[in-house]
Amino acid sequence: MPKLGVNVDHVATLRQARRELDPDPVVAAKICEKAGADSIVAHLREDRRHINDEDIRRLRKAVTTRLNLEMSLNKEIVAIAALIKPDEATLVPEKRAEITTEGGLDVVSHFNRIARAVETLQKKDIAVSLFIDPVKKQIKRAQESGATVIELHTGRYDLASTRIARNRELAKIKDMTRYARGLGLIVNAGHGLKYHNTRAIARIPGIKELNIGHSIISRAVFVGLEAAVKEMVKIIKK
Ligand code: PXP
Repeated sequence: MPKLGVNVDHVATLRQARRELDPDPVVAAKICEKAGADSIVAHLREDRRHINDEDIRRLRKAVTTRLNLEMSLNKEIVAIAALIKPDEATLVPEKRAEITTEGGLDVVSHFNRIARAVETLQKKDIAVSLFIDPVKKQIKRAQESGATVIELHTGRYDLASTRIARNRELAKIKDMTRYARGLGLIVNAGHGLKYHNTRAIARIPGIKELNIGHSIISRAVFVGLEAAVKEMVKIIKK
């Protein structure tokens, strides 16, 4: 049964709509943990559009499960991560104009830079995960970079508009999970997972953790955060 990592970025998005103090992503993280989240995920973007440096410092102190810091390869961000020492760092591609992370990290094209960041972070005892598309050559290079964890991008599965396309994406994720596990990698998955499409991913053998943000925070607006997390835990674990 996979674990659930809840991404609290969009609690901070709501706070930034007014640039005041509420809602606090740290309070949200504690509610998520109480409701059954196995880890807390937050993305310190270069433009600090939602989570900021102080949030990460406070999350580091408050989170008692595991803190997974999503981050780009930017030198300044890598230095912050090395200082704050999250339990895990997930390296993602980042473009300023994007609304959310688009596509996985291209480990094939940026191998040296990625391998250097992996080494810097691992020296600080931070487990490093690479967020990549479910593509064989990316997985192989991820393993060669020294990373011990990958997160397979489920965005294409989420966006598939027909049953045939969705099943094709699902099969890809299933096959690539098996391939990566064969290489000794820990496999997580995430992006675009919702209450209606998570179960099929959770059933894939070998996936350790699902990282989910937007759908849970959106649902929380209507039912409360604790209930929203519990509903997702139930989908994943039962
Ligand atoms: N995993 C990674 C690596 C991400 O970049 C994101 C988005 O921040 C997520 C998971 C969560 O995606 P969503 O908000 O669509 O659930």
